[in-house]
Amino acid sequence: MERNGKVILITGASSGIGKSCATYLSERGLTVFGTSRYFPPANLLETNGVFYTIRMDVTSEESVNEAVQAILGRTEIDVLINNAGCALAGAIEDTSPEEALRELNTNFLGAHRVTRAVLPGMRKRRSGYIINISSLAGSIALPFQTFYSASKFALEAFTEALRMELRPFNIKVVSIQPNDYRTGLTDHRQKVVTWEHSAYPERAEKALAVTEAGERNGPSPEEIDRLVEKIINKKSPRIRYQIGPNAKAIALARWLLPPRVSEKLVMKYFRI
Ligand SMILES: NC(=O)c1ccc[n+]([C@@H]2O[C@H](COP(=O)([O-])OP(=O)(O)OC[C@H]3O[C@@H](n4cnc5c(N)ncnc54)[C@H](OP(=O)(O)O)[C@@H]3O)[C@@H](O)[C@H]2O)c1
Repeated sequence: MERNGKVILITGASSGIGKSCATYLSERGLTVFGTSRYFPPANLLETNGVFYTIRMDVTSEESVNEAVQAILGRTEIDVLINNAGCALAGAIEDTSPEEALRELNTNFLGAHRVTRAVLPGMRKRRSGYIINISSLAGSIALPFQTFYSASKFALEAFTEALRMELRPFNIKVVSIQPNDYRTGLTDHRQKVVTWEHSAYPERAEKALAVTEAGERNGPSPEEIDRLVEKIINKKSPRIRYQIGPNAKAIALARWLLPPRVSEKLVMKYFRI
């Protein structure tokens, strides 16, 4: 396969941020492979007219390896964007261990699986970018969306440590922390199965309503596309980029304010 600028692999490119980013980068002339659990099998190498579409379920090591090997059989991967993710809502007490595990398995261990699959090639060439689409919820725990937050906190630790481990190989590792964007995430979000019988019905509903309103009224994700483009053209990108409505101010407040004050503000924001 002829290399046309950087080659990008984006997980979760059937919707929202991943689809927007895959489309944008492809239209800028880069070679983009985007994944979904429902795209055609990797060996078919189909396109949707804009970017290459490859089946991948990030919760399956076999599926991840099959997709990555299908790409590596044709070209190198210069940039990995770990974007695939899902959202789970529910009180901690109402969340079963299986539900919690499913959330972490996609949002955190999924990024680990794909990263492991692409790293040998990047290390050999001593170059590459790994961009993890985390969330502002990776710095501020969201009440009644704990396992979503926990998966993103874990992704932040992963980003920090991976960045140090890969420094000698010239592989740049970055986390993007979006705030509320208008994507498929709102409709795809699952509630824990015991939601209707929750011990915290009103407060969980209120907190979720605030999140949903923020997302539905949020911007569409094009500005994230431009941020990704900027990052992959930087020699020394920062570790973390906040983006979205008030994202920078919220992150700054989180670092500056005493925990007691920020806790009060978060509870007030979520009306709980
Ligand atoms: N929207 C926001 O406000 C916001 C804010 C902060 C962070 N984020 C993060 O941004 C990322 C993208 O979310 P989005 O908002 O664009 O949501 P979205 O529209 O629901 O897109 C989610 C993508 O993830 C893919 N996906 C889900 N489970 C998967 C699995 N097991 N294996 C492979 N792919 C899987 C979906 O593909 P298929 O279902 O087709 O497989 C889909 O393409 C997520 O990591 C999310 O946490 C979003």
